[in-house]
Amino acid sequence: MIKSDYLVIGSGIAGLSFALKACRTGVVSLITKRKLFDSSTGKAQGGIACVTDKEDTFESHIEDTLIAGAGLCNKEIVEIAVRTAPERIKELIDMGMNFAKKSYKDSDSEFELGLEGGHSKRRVLHSGDITGEEIEKVLINNVKKAENINIFEEHMAVDLIVDKSNKCCGAYVYDEKNATVETFLAKIVVLACGGTGKVYLYTSNPDVATGDGIAMAYRAGADIANMEFIQFHPTCLYNPIAKSFLISEAVRGEGGILKNQKGEAFMEKYHPLKDLAPRDIVSRAIDTELKKHGDKFVYLDIRHRGEDFLVKRFPNIYEKCLFYGIDMARDMIPVVPAAHYCCGGVAVDKYAQTTIKNLFAIGENACNGLQGANRLASNSLLDGLVFSEYAYQKSKDMLKDISIDENVPEFVNEATGNGDPTTMLHKWEEVRRLMSNYVAIVRNDERLQMALKRIELIKDEVKNHFRDFKVSMELLEVKNIVEVAEIIIKSAMKRKESRGAHFNSDYPKKSSNIKDTIVAK
Ligand code: SIN
Repeated sequence: MIKSDYLVIGSGIAGLSFALKACRTGVVSLITKRKLFDSSTGKAQGGIACVTDKEDTFESHIEDTLIAGAGLCNKEIVEIAVRTAPERIKELIDMGMNFAKKSYKDSDSEFELGLEGGHSKRRVLHSGDITGEEIEKVLINNVKKAENINIFEEHMAVDLIVDKSNKCCGAYVYDEKNATVETFLAKIVVLACGGTGKVYLYTSNPDVATGDGIAMAYRAGADIANMEFIQFHPTCLYNPIAKSFLISEAVRGEGGILKNQKGEAFMEKYHPLKDLAPRDIVSRAIDTELKKHGDKFVYLDIRHRGEDFLVKRFPNIYEKCLFYGIDMARDMIPVVPAAHYCCGGVAVDKYAQTTIKNLFAIGENACNGLQGANRLASNSLLDGLVFSEYAYQKSKDMLKDISIDENVPEFVNEATGNGDPTTMLHKWEEVRRLMSNYVAIVRNDERLQMALKRIELIKDEVKNHFRDFKVSMELLEVKNIVEVAEIIIKSAMKRKESRGAHFNSDYPKKSSNIKDTIVAK
């Protein structure tokens, strides 16, 4: 048994930020299923939205967030995120983060501010086009130096341990190197496992994004909210061998124009903000164009900004495109929408408390009301930063009243088979194809019904694998993506309207009855 005050599951911006605070008041076990760096944060290109310029206002950032969220944001949460953002950014800078600074003076912000879809002002702090990578490096450096944090890489949580009084006491954790399952006990358990992109065939997410936090919380009986709102990023590179490479929305912020394969700019037909409309609108517009013309991709054209600017502002994207034979300064970039962000998740209050005692959820696997039905660009890293602080403020005061409960059942898995890795891979592909065909940008009741029937069969098959085969990372991940796929389908079936990232062609309008979708076991 491994005991600590806090068990933090996940090593993106939310988990690392929480661990760095929590270690001031207790011992932290930080587990992550691959290496510390393997998280969606490390792949984030755009940046963090934060008001830093006198020309900009908190009210304007709040308003933009609410508009993108299509009526489903919790205004109190949005206010907290926007108004406390500058303090959290300062903490990051004090830890060593360098955001791009201006080399010229055109306003009072010292930062070079990016613009992305749905923002009425330039307000995105960035570090070129590798903002997440830089933040992740800074947080990891600090975590490695911290005294009270014990890091467990290649450890994947199997399930939460919840007692009869609905109190979370820890988690069973699979240690990949030793192929054993350990019991981790803790006073406070924090889910910071990131998103669900791997439930879909095309995603901007890294391989680790298999919805583990949401699936575990669901199995443990927590409320899960708004999972129908899977945000598709409009512009992932279309290339048969490029895996999940994002072309940042900041490229459109700097003048990139979407064009169909006839070379026609089409966004003006869909929204007055054209290429910088909120993401759900741009993704649906691309989907419509693709279907109308029978094409597989559209183009993003930023050639007019010239090589010097593009190399300086987007060094990573420029280089990556060149690697695939596309010179952004001379060629249009082929792009498609891809699953990018899960706006729903484990239902939490403003302190990140779930419906299970002593279990918190922060970052992408949580649903706190900041993102509503469609997240505003560059509000996701902000979510992790702000609500890890709120979770810490609440949980540190709870520590003294919680004792570690050692009287928990042992993990039982008597299976001896190793399973067939190819079967597992097929199962994985089957789910992802099913979700991409039936539960993606445009849905309807018939497709959702078909998807549910099929996913229930797959779920049964995976249950059998679990009974017959020894625990492995692959098996756990497949189990989680199937679980999350089922939750997404059930949530989508409950919402009889179209709002934000959820579009059902049988109910193409918004309903006047605005409410969250809750799914629980
Ligand atoms: C991007 O760079 O386009 C991604 C930013 C985000 O998802 O907020």
